[in-house]
This record gives sequence, structure tokens and C-alpha cells, in this order.
Amino acid sequence: MSSILLLTSSPRAESLSTPIAVDLAEKLKSQNPGSVVVRRDLAANPLPHIDDLFTGAIRKPAEARTAEEAAAVETSDELVNELLAADTIVISTGLINFNIYSSLKTWIDNVARAGLTFKYTESGPVGLATGKKVYVVLASGGVYSQGPAAALNHAVPYLKSVLGFLGISDIETIYVEGLAFGPEAAEKAIDAAKSRVQEIALAA
Ligand SMILES: Cc1cc2nc3c(=O)[nH]c(=O)nc-3n(C[C@H](O)[C@H](O)[C@H](O)COP(=O)(O)O)c2cc1C
Repeated sequence: MSSILLLTSSPRAESLSTPIAVDLAEKLKSQNPGSVVVRRDLAANPLPHIDDLFTGAIRKPAEARTAEEAAAVETSDELVNELLAADTIVISTGLINFNIYSSLKTWIDNVARAGLTFKYTESGPVGLATGKKVYVVLASGGVYSQGPAAALNHAVPYLKSVLGFLGISDIETIYVEGLAFGPEAAEKAIDAAKSRVQEIALAA
């Protein structure tokens, strides 16, 4: 059974990234009968920030953890299992101060686990979350896919780096950009993103 992991991170009721990502996940599901969508609304249900207990616990084998440490990694274990089970991952975020929403960063901090989603080898780190396709829906006030502001887009290079570290390199970004350049520009950007979603779904 194919599993689509949908991660939305905007806290805004009027979010422009969330509905596009939700639509993409639903379309992919309807194109693949029998597939399931596992949704994490990271803004409505924020994940725990990693803390002292967690960072200590993940360095120990499961059987050596105290009850308190085991409890501290429980959510992270669930998130890792969801990630490893997914064939397709749809992630949405706004560009927030040139990077991703912090709710999404917390998800990353919870799933980057040595021994589970990556491992260290003699020839360096190796990602273990392989064989997945990722779609990133990125909404932004400015234009960052190209042009003078592209160097300020830390969201896409960051996601590519960290997902790549986990073994995921097949990543497409759907930009919903230039939203601050007036209603016409915003409408054009939203239409372009919706068209791309349609194309992806038809090809799925
Ligand atoms: C706190 C905050 C910081 C933002 N920072 C940026 C930014 O650095 N660059 C940019 O182009 N837009 C920025 N924006 C605009 C958002 O990227 C835009 O509103 C986008 O639609 C947010 O995604 P969402 O609609 O899914 O919440 C910012 C918006 C907020 C609320």
C-alpha cells in the first residue's frame, strides 16, 4: 500500500501553502487507489522541541533508556516510522524570515535520528530514508526561485541538504511566490502552482 505523508506547517488560517499541498496529496491519493494520506498539521499540533532528555535518549540504544527517556523519544519514533513508511512526502511551508516555518524545523529535528534515518559509516554518513519522492510547496511574498533574491532563499537549499542527508534526493519545489506584489501577481502565482499540481497528479 502506498503511503503519502502530508506535512503542513503554516499557522495562518489564510495560508496559501497549505491548501495547495492538501490538494496535491488528495489528488495523488485519488490517482493511486488504495493509497493512504497520513497528515501532520505541524502548526495546529506542534511537536515537542528537542531538549536535554531527548538528545541524551537518542544516543542510547532503546533497551538502555530509562522510562522517562523512552517517553521522550516516543513521538519521534512515531514520526520516523511515518517517514520511513512513506513513498511520497508533500511538505508545505511559507518562506519565513528566509527559511521554513519553525514548526517544520521541529519535525526535522525529530526525524533526523542516527541509526534510524541515517547512519555513520567509515566513508561518512549514509541516508536510510531512501526511495521517496518529495514535493515542497513554498509560499513567499517575494520571488526566490530565480533572480536577485534567490540567494536569500534558505528554505529550499536547507530542505534539500537535510532531506538529502536522510537519503532523499528526488525533490520538486512548487513555488507560490511574489504574493506580496499585488493581487494580480498573487493570483498568477496561485494559478501557476495549481496548474503544476494538476500536471503532477495527471502524471502520477
Ligand atoms: C513572520 C513572517 C515572516 C515572513 N518572512 C518572509 C520572507 O523572509 N520572505 C518572503 O518573501 N516572505 C516572507 N513572509 C511572507 C510569507 O512567506 C507569505 O505570507 C506566505 O504566504 C506564508 O505562507 P502561508 O501562507 O502558507 O502561511 C513572511 C511572513 C510572515 C508572517
